[in-house]
Amino acid sequence: MNVRIVATSPFNDQKPGTSGLRKKVAVFKSARYLENFVQALFDTIFGAATAPPGSVLVLGGDGRYHNREAIQVILRMAAANGVAKVLVGQGGILSTPAASAVIRKYRCLGGIILSASHNPGGPDGDFGIKYNTGNGGPAPEKITDAIYARSRVLTSYRIVDAPDVELDQPGCHRLGEMRVEVIDPVADYADLMESLFDFGAIRELIGGGFRLCFDAMHAVTGPYAREILERRLGAPPGTVINGIPLPDFGGGHPDPNLTYAHQLVAIMYGAADDANPAPDMGAASDGDGDRNMILGRHFFVTPSDSLAIIAANAKLAPGYAEGIAGIARSMPTSAAADRVAEKLGVPCYETPTGWKFFGNLMDAGKVTLCGEESFGTGSSHVREKDGLWAVLFWLNILARRRLSVEEIAYSHWAEFGRNIYSRHDYEALPADAANGLMAHVKGQFAELPGRRFGDYRVKFCDDFSYTDPVDGSLSTGQGLRIGMEDGSRIVFRLSGTGTEGATLRIYLEAFEPDLARHRVDAQDALAALIDIAQELSQLKQRTGREQPTVIT
Ligand code: G1P
Ligand code: ZN
Repeated sequence: MNVRIVATSPFNDQKPGTSGLRKKVAVFKSARYLENFVQALFDTIFGAATAPPGSVLVLGGDGRYHNREAIQVILRMAAANGVAKVLVGQGGILSTPAASAVIRKYRCLGGIILSASHNPGGPDGDFGIKYNTGNGGPAPEKITDAIYARSRVLTSYRIVDAPDVELDQPGCHRLGEMRVEVIDPVADYADLMESLFDFGAIRELIGGGFRLCFDAMHAVTGPYAREILERRLGAPPGTVINGIPLPDFGGGHPDPNLTYAHQLVAIMYGAADDANPAPDMGAASDGDGDRNMILGRHFFVTPSDSLAIIAANAKLAPGYAEGIAGIARSMPTSAAADRVAEKLGVPCYETPTGWKFFGNLMDAGKVTLCGEESFGTGSSHVREKDGLWAVLFWLNILARRRLSVEEIAYSHWAEFGRNIYSRHDYEALPADAANGLMAHVKGQFAELPGRRFGDYRVKFCDDFSYTDPVDGSLSTGQGLRIGMEDGSRIVFRLSGTGTEGATLRIYLEAFEPDLARHRVDAQDALAALIDIAQELSQLKQRTGREQPTVIT
């Protein structure tokens, strides 16, 4: 088969962010754009003209618009670059955690995942591509930086001329010298889940009338959830809603939070009439299946609490029966997990935002569980956060403890105290306004310690930085923290994943040890901190915004 060397002029906007390269679909569809990036990726990971002999890659995506076309291009380029074999998810589908699991199980060189995570899809939506290394985790910065550097100097890419590979049936194909194996995208992942959790106990719970509603948001987890929840665990058909992956996610925004998962929220918070009560548990996942939201009946579990509750109950799941080595949480995530770690006598690491910081800790065996406030929870079973894994962990806990979701949360707070928590997002701000606001907050740092705001007194403030305990690398500028004397906190941070303008995130946390005050509404309990945050940042003057775009 003929390898064509196609001349290209380099691009200068292909810098992968924390979750790969994300751009509008139209950008990815423009001539040579995808090809340029993929060649830069191959040049970087192969470090030579062609792939080392026997190299196996995993390839799949979240099913969004342009997924199939991109897969065919990448397959033809992989063949031209000497890759020995590619494992492709049937239909071009592989969730991010499933891709991670497949890379690890078959000891592949790495994997290419096509996704823009929770960003909307469709012709006017976003597309993305990310590379995961042999440990199953996102490529470290030294690799993504090298890809970026290469993408700016490339003058040609390699591709073979060949018809499209049939992706809709499992089977083996040849593309020149390269083998393409179309694999069941669900089976390996489902088997892994079955090895970690007590499926027997969950089956019994469900058989006893426990009702679950899982919203796949027309994104990648539909086939996974149907196989695991409805087939293997016996939940009735219809337990999974919006279960068919669609290229535009049905026009929705596949982000499992209280704003975007509105159908699920309506079901779980619906008027409780006796004839038709809300399900016992609700859950949702995002575009590529790595995020999760857990709801009880009329009850929202913050992701920070979810991590802490999973950690406190970990031994109930067979895969974690021996206990956990440690916990890691991103800096803006509440300190609820820290309290559990302390009680368990295991370390708790505070890392910058982004999953990649957890990988080193897991590879070094320092932590078993990790999580972020942004609906990401996971463990060392893969090297990505994992939406369905979290749902199954909760089901395992519920099956063993036979309490409601709400009762589990209240009993947790009774034992550990409650870290009342909320995040306010201001999306699509002009970059100047957002940067000015951050500079203004930071500019007050010298005079803030000791200052009183009503009941609060500032104890410390800093711009968070982190030294990786495994490789010693330093990450600076990771968010502005203002800590109060009673342990309450305000954090200001600019998003690294938005594609439109700047997104400001304000993270608010207040610790409440008093059991009698655990039934408060989070926004009410945080009102004073919200006012302080607005005052310190001159939010209204600088952004003209009266309300956050999203509150979680
Ligand atoms: C967001 C989340 C962060 C997560 C990332 C990728 O990043 O806040 O926790 O790791 O998406 O899913 P941000 O937009 O805040 O930079
Ligand atoms: Zn995602």
